[in-house]
Amino acid sequence: MALSAPDLSTRPIGVFDSGIGGLTVARAVSRVLPHERLVYFGDTAHLPYGDKSTAAIQAYSVKICDLLLKQHCKVILIACNSASAAAYELVREYVGSKARVLNVIDPIVAHVGATYANRTVGLIGTKQTVNSNVYRKKIDDLDVGVELHSLATPLLAPMIEEGFFNNTISDNIIRTYLTNPLLENIEALVLACTHYPLIKKQIADFYQGKVDVLDASDVVAEHVRHYLKENHLAAKAGSTSPVHHFYVSDFTSSFEQSTRIFFDQEVQLEHYPLWE
Ligand code: DGL
Repeated sequence: MALSAPDLSTRPIGVFDSGIGGLTVARAVSRVLPHERLVYFGDTAHLPYGDKSTAAIQAYSVKICDLLLKQHCKVILIACNSASAAAYELVREYVGSKARVLNVIDPIVAHVGATYANRTVGLIGTKQTVNSNVYRKKIDDLDVGVELHSLATPLLAPMIEEGFFNNTISDNIIRTYLTNPLLENIEALVLACTHYPLIKKQIADFYQGKVDVLDASDVVAEHVRHYLKENHLAAKAGSTSPVHHFYVSDFTSSFEQSTRIFFDQEVQLEHYPLWE
């Protein structure tokens, strides 16, 4: 007798990041897809990824995928821009047919290609994301005449993590970066880092409506929604809300308190010592 195929729609979506910043992506996904159960993993033991080598991020990412596969995730979403830049291809190969792998770069690249042909677009992110040149390569492959100007802004993620946003100190740092000549004459700015949705308003205020500020987390969440629907993987509405799990490789109460900043509500972090 032939075995019937398992119903993948009931399985969770795995989301991983270098730490808790990826909760901005998880939050956007849970808003757009309220019936999906999330298994989140933040590699707080190795944060930040933005300053790590490609080889190190690849090794961490593969190990995290083992955990998410053990949890039977139907989709693994790499919420971290730095990990998406450094490890997406490798992770996809590693995971094979065991789960679908999505990243946070492709949806924004498609959006930029569709909206800003023959225009100049800026991008800010970590050193790893910017130096990998992955956005430029993918945008150039579209061949629609988008000129991309990328600037590494490594102070922004730790600044936000320490709660420094919507104040004069962060205003000054943001202004210093955004007045860099590299970002002159752009028509849109891609926020290519998990943390930057929290300073979207400050950045938009700086540009006073002259530059479109593109929040990748919203674009990515919408992409995940389409992807699940097209691939018949979307969870059906249940009578109760799904119970998410949030794992971290190193636990501190300060990480737990910071979840409020990134997820809009404080969530309970579970310590999963993946590296011991
Ligand atoms: N999650 C990282 C990213 O989106 C930012 C924080 C880090 O450097 O680990 O690139």
